[in-house]
Amino acid sequence: MPTNRVAVFRKITFNAAHRLYYKNWSEEKNREVFGLCANENYHGHNYRLDVRVVGDTDPITGYVINLDELKKIMQEEVHHRFDHHNLNLDCPEFKDLNPTGENIVVVIYNLLRHRLDKKYDLQVRLWETERNYFEYPA
Ligand code: NI
Repeated sequence: MPTNRVAVFRKITFNAAHRLYYKNWSEEKNREVFGLCANENYHGHNYRLDVRVVGDTDPITGYVINLDELKKIMQEEVHHRFDHHNLNLDCPEFKDLNPTGENIVVVIYNLLRHRLDKKYDLQVRLWETERNYFEYPA
């Protein structure tokens, strides 16, 4: 049966620094588990975020969602919050949460989910490098 459900995508990028470690482990144990990512002085990534919103196309506007509105939400919730920040030190979201791709993608999903109408399905993909990316919900 034909439907008018469409997936709409928007992407943004942000640059941020992080370090992966568990405070109750020794330097050696952290180094063993997290490798270079445990480096004490942090390192940066050029993150890319793909946001997928699925909903019914409105018969009048022809829109699933106004992309200007989605852009504004993504800038406020993601770019302003994380761009050029140190995720470990500057962002309360990661005060007690290791800023791995897995954890970042869930944090971002929840931030966006709160801003979007329940009628939409949301999926978020976070690229940490050109080869490593994370998706939520799985
Ligand atoms: Ni890293």
